[in-house]
Amino acid sequence: MQDYKDILAEVLIDEQALQKRVKELADLINIDYAGDKILLICILRGALPFMVDLMRHLTVLNAIDCMAVSSYGEGARETTGNVRMTLDLKTNIEGRHVILVEDIVDSGHTIAHVLKILCTRNPKSLKVCALLDKESRREVIVPIDYCGFKIANKFVFGYGLDLDEYYRNLPFVGVVDLNRFNPND
Ligand code: IMP
Ligand code: MG
Repeated sequence: MQDYKDILAEVLIDEQALQKRVKELADLINIDYAGDKILLICILRGALPFMVDLMRHLTVLNAIDCMAVSSYGEGARETTGNVRMTLDLKTNIEGRHVILVEDIVDSGHTIAHVLKILCTRNPKSLKVCALLDKESRREVIVPIDYCGFKIANKFVFGYGLDLDEYYRNLPFVGVVDLNRFNPND
């Protein structure tokens, strides 16, 4: 795999800006759910760093769980719209305040599918917290209750987002130069 510097077109959101915004989102959640208990659901794997940083700033009582969905065909960088749940929750969400935590909403198919499944389980409330929103790519309308940043239609990586499963650990969100990316390197 290439060094990230070889495929980085630009740093879109640096570490400081990310951390500041994540704290702001946590502050909003702390206000909205003051006195309540919440369940955060991390949509694996992209939302991992975001959720970990977010929960550190929460003062409302919170529990966590994780689920995984897949929508991309192997090696593809666009959703197929064909979303499957590959790992279900351990927690019964009935009667609970649930916040879905996602790295990025692109076409919207992933979140739409997850919301549809979770709604049938009768949570007390169900909201979406997404770090990034590629609004111009939307194919289905989905609510984003807590949104970190709206971004342009560029393929990004870092801070949970991967390029062929690598680079999730980078502390910033960067734009990939796909012309310089060689998956066989
Ligand atoms: P959607 O179903 O099209 O909204 O796609 C959402 C999923 O696609 C996200 O959870 C990401 O895993 C992935 N994704 C979309 N855009 C990007 C990107 O620019 N970089 C990395 N992953 C992305
Ligand atoms: Mg994801």
